[in-house]
Amino acid sequence: LRQPLPENLHARYRAIRNQTLRLVGPLQKEDFVVQPIVDVSPPKWHLAHTTWFFETFVLVSNATDYNLFDKSFPYLFNSYYISAGDRWSRADRGNLTRPSVDEVFAYREYVDEAMEKLILEADLTSEQLHVIEVGFHHEQQHQELLLYDIKYIFGHNPTFPVYKGDSENEDKLPVIAIKWLPIKKGNYHIGHEGDFFCFDNELRRHEVHLEGFEIANRLVTNGEYLDFMKSGGYSDHSFWLSDGWDWIQSNKLECPLYWFEEDGEWKMFGLSGLKKLNINEPVAHVSYYEADAYAKWAGLRLPTEFEWEMAAMEYGTESLSSGNFVDDHLMRPKAGESLDFFGNLWEWTASAYLPYPYYQAPPGALGEYNGKFMINQMVLRGGSYATPQSHIRPTYRNFFQPNMRWLFNGIRLARFI
Ligand SMILES: [Fe+2]
Repeated sequence: LRQPLPENLHARYRAIRNQTLRLVGPLQKEDFVVQPIVDVSPPKWHLAHTTWFFETFVLVSNATDYNLFDKSFPYLFNSYYISAGDRWSRADRGNLTRPSVDEVFAYREYVDEAMEKLILEADLTSEQLHVIEVGFHHEQQHQELLLYDIKYIFGHNPTFPVYKGDSENEDKLPVIAIKWLPIKKGNYHIGHEGDFFCFDNELRRHEVHLEGFEIANRLVTNGEYLDFMKSGGYSDHSFWLSDGWDWIQSNKLECPLYWFEEDGEWKMFGLSGLKKLNINEPVAHVSYYEADAYAKWAGLRLPTEFEWEMAAMEYGTESLSSGNFVDDHLMRPKAGESLDFFGNLWEWTASAYLPYPYYQAPPGALGEYNGKFMINQMVLRGGSYATPQSHIRPTYRNFFQPNMRWLFNGIRLARFI
């Protein structure tokens, strides 16, 4: 069990909970309720669900004098924890016009008061401290999802609302040439070690063998992806995995999500509104299928998550602090970056999301957090411009189904030496 320093706990609780409120600051009430597709949850639901997490896993199980804010909320705001009881259907989250946005804000305040009292006054066990720490990281994950979902909601509104205006000119920085960073053939240690927090899926640390390979120093740009599109990348089946080919056919796809062609000019929707496509910015919002097809078209491949982790440790650790994270408030991918393994955009890897050797799901409801999703998903690494900097680690494993592309992800290429 990994536990935070207790003296920081209260300040961290407040900072993380307040950050969620800051992120929804630019929204109007109507924005909080809609669910345009099943993968996108209404912002109101995220606010309530992260609160339910603390209420259920910390307050209800620890504070004997705690009374639920509302008896219907555990049913409404449990996401997927079967052992925590029945729950409202995920696809119908957008139908919950009640509880109102104001009631959900009041729910947050009520739970915050009880949580802060517990943190300040109770003699917490290391088990309790660990669950609170999981609650912090859970809330940070939802902060990132909130931005994905806000972007989807605004990006599918014909008026293309602006979430945050750009204060300066778009990046004028030129694209730097691709440099290939070598990693020697050998056995390497993968996975988390140390006393600080990690999710269960980063354990246990184990050895893997890697063939010698090289990885690109930067992400693929919009301009490069446009070349793939212009050369018929979406109409040549030889670049595509069978599932991906079927998927682009049935969805009639021929460009990344949020790209729009108007009078022969490409535009892109971002959190700062609809803009001319910046060809120097890293390409984002491509599915695993598209990332893989692009790599094949380029005569290259995606790195495995193990290759990625070793390369990031060797070449990218500076970006753990200097990378483009949500803390920088840029709210878009940054052009002209090099060695940006951390921040900017999550990077698809060629690795299926599977348990590491000796993996064990924790006991109880929190055992449902990661382990049961280890099927039909691909691993992404490194974090994005929507990730809190304090949330990421070199061993962090994100995962999504290969057809997902509303997340903030990009493409980094690799090749064998
Ligand atoms: Fe959650």
